[in-house]
Amino acid sequence: MASLFRPPLLISLAFAFFVLGSSSSEESTLLAFKSSIDDLTNSLSNWVSSSSSPIHFCNWTGISCVSSSSPSSLSVSAINLQGLNLSGEISSSICELPRLVHLNLADNQFNQPIPLHLSQCSSLETLNLSNNLIWGTIPDQISLFRSLIVLDFAKNHIEGKIPEGIGALKNLQVLNLRSNLISGRVPSVIFHNLTELTVLDLSENSYLMSDIPNEIGKLVKLQELWLQSSGFHGEIPSSLLDLSSLSVLDLSQNNLTGKLPEMMGSSLNNLVFFDVSVNKLMGSFPNGFCSGKSLVSLSVHTNFFTGTLPDSLNKCLNLERFEVQNNGFSGDFPKSLWSLPKIKLIRAENNGFSGEIPESISMAAHLEQVQLDNNSFSSKIPRGLGSIRSLYRFSASLNLFYGELPSNFCDSPLMSIINLSHNSLSGRIPELKNCKKLVSLSLAGNSFTGVIPTSLADLPVLTYLDLSDNNLTGSIPRGLENLKLALFNVSFNQLSGAVPFSLISGLPASFLQGNPDLCGPGLQTPCSQGHPTNHVSGLKKMTCALISIACVLGVLSLAAGFVLYYRSFKSKSRVDNWHSVYFYPLRISEHELIMGMNEKTAQGHGGAFGQVFVLSLPSRELIAVKKLVNFGSRSWKSLKVEVETLAKIRHKNIIKFLGFCYSDDAIFLIYEFLHRRSLADLICRNDSCLNWNVRLRIAIEVAQGLAYLHRDCVPHLLHRNVKSSNILLDADFVPKLTDFALHHIVGESAFHSTVASESAHSCYIAPEYKYNKKATAQMDVYSFGVVLLELVTGRQAERSESTDSLDVVQWVRRKVNLANGASQVLDPSVSEQSQRQMLEALDIALQCTSMMPEKRPSMLEVAKALQLIDSTTNLHDVASSAAEDESVSS
Ligand SMILES: *[C@@H]1O[C@H](CO)[C@@H](O)[C@H](O)[C@H]1NC(C)=O
Ligand SMILES: *[C@@H]1O[C@H](CO)[C@@H](O)[C@H](O)[C@H]1NC(C)=O
Ligand SMILES: *[C@@H]1O[C@H](CO)[C@@H](O)[C@H](O)[C@H]1NC(C)=O
Ligand SMILES: *[C@@H]1O[C@H](CO)[C@@H](O)[C@H](O)[C@H]1NC(C)=O
Ligand SMILES: *[C@@H]1O[C@H](CO)[C@@H](O)[C@H](O)[C@H]1NC(C)=O
Ligand SMILES: *[C@@H]1O[C@H](CO)[C@@H](O)[C@H](O)[C@H]1NC(C)=O
Ligand SMILES: *[C@@H]1O[C@H](CO)[C@@H](O)[C@H](O)[C@H]1NC(C)=O
Ligand SMILES: *[C@@H]1O[C@H](CO)[C@@H](O)[C@H](O)[C@H]1NC(C)=O
Ligand SMILES: *[C@@H]1O[C@H](CO)[C@@H](O)[C@H](O)[C@H]1NC(C)=O
Repeated sequence: MASLFRPPLLISLAFAFFVLGSSSSEESTLLAFKSSIDDLTNSLSNWVSSSSSPIHFCNWTGISCVSSSSPSSLSVSAINLQGLNLSGEISSSICELPRLVHLNLADNQFNQPIPLHLSQCSSLETLNLSNNLIWGTIPDQISLFRSLIVLDFAKNHIEGKIPEGIGALKNLQVLNLRSNLISGRVPSVIFHNLTELTVLDLSENSYLMSDIPNEIGKLVKLQELWLQSSGFHGEIPSSLLDLSSLSVLDLSQNNLTGKLPEMMGSSLNNLVFFDVSVNKLMGSFPNGFCSGKSLVSLSVHTNFFTGTLPDSLNKCLNLERFEVQNNGFSGDFPKSLWSLPKIKLIRAENNGFSGEIPESISMAAHLEQVQLDNNSFSSKIPRGLGSIRSLYRFSASLNLFYGELPSNFCDSPLMSIINLSHNSLSGRIPELKNCKKLVSLSLAGNSFTGVIPTSLADLPVLTYLDLSDNNLTGSIPRGLENLKLALFNVSFNQLSGAVPFSLISGLPASFLQGNPDLCGPGLQTPCSQGHPTNHVSGLKKMTCALISIACVLGVLSLAAGFVLYYRSFKSKSRVDNWHSVYFYPLRISEHELIMGMNEKTAQGHGGAFGQVFVLSLPSRELIAVKKLVNFGSRSWKSLKVEVETLAKIRHKNIIKFLGFCYSDDAIFLIYEFLHRRSLADLICRNDSCLNWNVRLRIAIEVAQGLAYLHRDCVPHLLHRNVKSSNILLDADFVPKLTDFALHHIVGESAFHSTVASESAHSCYIAPEYKYNKKATAQMDVYSFGVVLLELVTGRQAERSESTDSLDVVQWVRRKVNLANGASQVLDPSVSEQSQRQMLEALDIALQCTSMMPEKRPSMLEVAKALQLIDSTTNLHDVASSAAEDESVSS
């Protein structure tokens, strides 16, 4: 490492010391920085000292160097450790790197206040801490970061006001505080002093309460202004028009009032993205948009705009999205919009538009989505619509469209939603041959005649079919049995004949009303000799199928009838193909079971995996039946083995399985019925707040139930769906877990896709499930921790209705970061005396909901820790709860 030339010894030594010293001190600085970081995934494994590894620190993960004053020495200029699952401390030691310019720690798990000490890094220009767990306020000393050009604190938990001190960052070009908890008014120094800004993002700070000051016009270099979903109110200042470089203007979802500045369209002619939707703006739509042709997205929806749309919109040759829905616009909808070459989305519903959809719509070759519902459009549906290959949604209900549907109306291979209900369409409904992705078809409230197209039965994902209130005749195509329809409404037509059996079970009966000639079980007219019912008894399989041909012969040719014969025969034998196993003498036939499940017996709105029904046995006992519809294919044998395993579980805190029933398209799980509904229903409703002793006992017993599943039963089981609505309570408030281990029944992939679609954002799901699809006991522990937080705080896990939409985990984690925060999260309706116990339980809940799975205790440890809390009461309060404790620990 000594230098190559040979100056006098002393100088040489001194020089070598300098070179070595500075770079090896950079290395040790980095190592010191690393030592304060928790690197769970070992991402920084090559950060090791040069004495044990030949890799130079400039080649370590995330490090970039520049050559410093002397050519042989390198200096760290950038550290980019984005997305490496890092946590721990951001140490100020890093500021000993004299030439550090960029620091990017985005997308990690740093959980601490803003690291002010980084202001000692004298050449730091970029500080990116976005998407971490940074909390606390922005102190006035933020002014110390004088050298910063880019400051990104987006997606953290920063609260409080934006301090005046931020005005000292004179060089700042990018300021991003998106998605934090910032409150109060935006200080005017931002607009006076930060004149170099090109990007200002204060969006998604719902606690802000601020106007947009007129001084905004001073930010003449601004290119992107993101202020959406924050608390901005008042009028849009006309000085905004001075920002001629603006390409993004997003003011949506605020509380802005007044009119748009008149010249908005023509002054801002570099705009690419313009959004003022969901405010309280009024007046007319500005003229002159697209004078610069750059506009790609234009949205003014959900305001109080009135008047007509200008014809000049035909200049918007790059426009992809156009949204004007939910306003008071009127007049003819500009025809030119329908043939813009790049348009993908047109939304204009809930206005007073008139006019037509022209044939030239076929030129909009990229059109994906059209929504025009609730206007006064009046024309035929153009054939050109059917030739657009990218269209997946066409919704134009509540208009005056008339004439016949063109035969190609559903030809787009992507089409999934069509709603033409409540128009004046007539003629026959064309066969739908090509739109195999159709999910929803609504043609209700028109004057369609003829038969229901049999091709509907060949649309594999059709789930919503509303043909009600037309003049359709003939019978209901038997093939519809094969679909998994969630809604099927053919009421108020002139249909006749027998109703396919499986269409009746599980769907409300009102979908058939107003067709006096339909017959079948559950309808007013039972099928007579000529109209056989499709009975589950399965006796007259052949006759039934034969007579059902007779029913359709009237409408279809013999050949078509033959196909149908085959199909009905097949689907019928499916309906008969019931297997059932009862683990308890239920004395109820499969037929009674299935007929008993209807609107009246349905509970709630059904969970992710299916609806629950409560049925009464002949003995007057009640049972709960869960109908599973989303499951993968598996053999009856393997299913039986799985369910029998689950049925063997006997624990006082796990719901009893009474039996099950199975056919190709549904599984019914039969459980004991509990009177007090679920913990979610009781957690803290004003009328029935559970007292703390009851809550603690519930927590202990649920923990014991889970510990049993995880450790004691053979094979060990995971619950995988722990949440307060899956904890049922009996008359004595003894909790019982339900909906457990459904993955064993529906199969892993069906389970996973249901979880993915239904509860991806549920706060009960452990964070690691997003990237680690393998289920673990620690994920159950996390979910249990969320339930425990609900018990301690009296807050429901997720509340969407109120403005305070944080889920309970985020809410608590934020609060407990503050001084005295812990006692602030406790349910105020519980008496003070229980506070100490509640704090202890809160501590356990926080451990369970740790972001890091390996830091969570096991369910057995949790159960023991909770029992310990309970037993300490007895020391203080022996008389009252000794008996209770006895029953708990038994
Ligand atoms: C970094 O690694 C590359 C390739 O492995 C090598 O060429 C380069 O010299 C190394 N840089 C330093 C400073 O060690
Ligand atoms: C973060 O951790 C998860 C699981 O612990 C892992 O799947 C993922 O790859 C890690 N990310 C990185 C960038 O190492
Ligand atoms: C900060 O880092 C994130 C993640 O890498 C990135 O998306 C974002 O653009 C960065 N911020 C700035 C201002 O460059
Ligand atoms: C903002 O700029 C003004 C005028 O240049 C200056 O007096 C003031 O101190 C600045 N504010 C901050 C917080 O630096
Ligand atoms: C919007 O402003 C109105 C009147 O100024 C006020 O009553 C309302 O609470 C505000 N709404 C929100 C969401 O800030
Ligand atoms: C139709 O739009 C009007 C506003 O133009 C609105 O008041 C009405 O509620 C809408 N009707 C439906 C059914 O959405
Ligand atoms: C179809 O439009 C009608 C009327 O606007 C609406 O009530 C119905 O919910 C829509 N159906 C679907 C499936 O969106
Ligand atoms: C259905 O047809 C009958 C007679 O053909 C007619 O009187 C009635 O108005 C029609 N109903 C609808 C909704 O078109
Ligand atoms: C079926 O359609 C009729 C008429 O459109 C409507 O009154 C009824 O509520 C609908 N039934 C269901 C279950 O959607």
